[in-house]
Amino acid sequence: MSNIAVTAQLPGPALELLRACHEVRVHSGPTMLEPEVVAGWAAGADALISLLANPVGAEVMERCPALRIIGNCAAGFDNIDCVEAGRRGIWVTNTPDVLTEATADLAWALILTVTRKIIEADAFLQAGRFKGWELDLMTGSGLQGRILGIVGFGRIGRAVARRGSAFGMKVMATHTSKAINGFEDVTFADIETLVASSDVLSLHCPLNDETRGLLHENRLRQMRRGAFLINTARGPVIDEAALVRVLEDGHLGGVGLDVFAQEPAVHPGLLGRENAVLLPHIGSATREARSEMAELAARNVLAVLAGDEPPSIVVRGR
Ligand code: GLV
Repeated sequence: MSNIAVTAQLPGPALELLRACHEVRVHSGPTMLEPEVVAGWAAGADALISLLANPVGAEVMERCPALRIIGNCAAGFDNIDCVEAGRRGIWVTNTPDVLTEATADLAWALILTVTRKIIEADAFLQAGRFKGWELDLMTGSGLQGRILGIVGFGRIGRAVARRGSAFGMKVMATHTSKAINGFEDVTFADIETLVASSDVLSLHCPLNDETRGLLHENRLRQMRRGAFLINTARGPVIDEAALVRVLEDGHLGGVGLDVFAQEPAVHPGLLGRENAVLLPHIGSATREARSEMAELAARNVLAVLAGDEPPSIVVRGR
């Protein structure tokens, strides 16, 4: 029987699966945890299940000399020091696939919300200002025939591309090294061409050294005047202060952001703008996806503790 530390209550059958064979302790209270809290909670564990809001660095690994796996309950794993885990022979796993459609739906919800002024129109009506149908009331931007640019053509980027084609958009994406059967209509381009060509630019890349600040001020200003920027990936992919300046200049038509550079803080310059739709990182927040994410995190941990290969490997352990 191994000792598993979990940093939050998990939905669905995950905890039951773990408790059937192991000793499990579950942290209660807020889920945004400081590194020392994660380290204190995990101390002595053989396995850790973490959320993306839990930094897992060397100090955590130091307090768990027997740690065999860090099972992140998220597709992204930028909260984990993967180099340090690899050095120590600790497995790192994530939860891709099960959240792909939910996250693509949310990206698409943001695209429709910003381009069709849904929030503004709702506020207008609720304030009692709807006095009858008008030809030019709340006119937004049409999508048909426009260019949808996708940065990061992985699972979620492709799911967004499929939705884009269904809406009659022309899809462009950054190059990918993997096979891409079924996307013959997609034009691949470098980031500069993509940024300069897109009417809607949607971010789906992981956060790493190459993508941090990818959308810096120059790139933001290279976007088409009146274009829309959607981010359901990770906040630091965009230079947020630069984005505020570019919005202040009226260069962009609008932004839809589900993620922020310093969550849960939001740059004050983004707040209160009619053309900025801001969500509290709910990309994968369907009951179905969250339950499957937790279950997959649990299955990853169970596999490693049983001496097997986990289903979704980020870092191979020993
Ligand atoms: C959510 O942002 C995730 O990485 O799962």
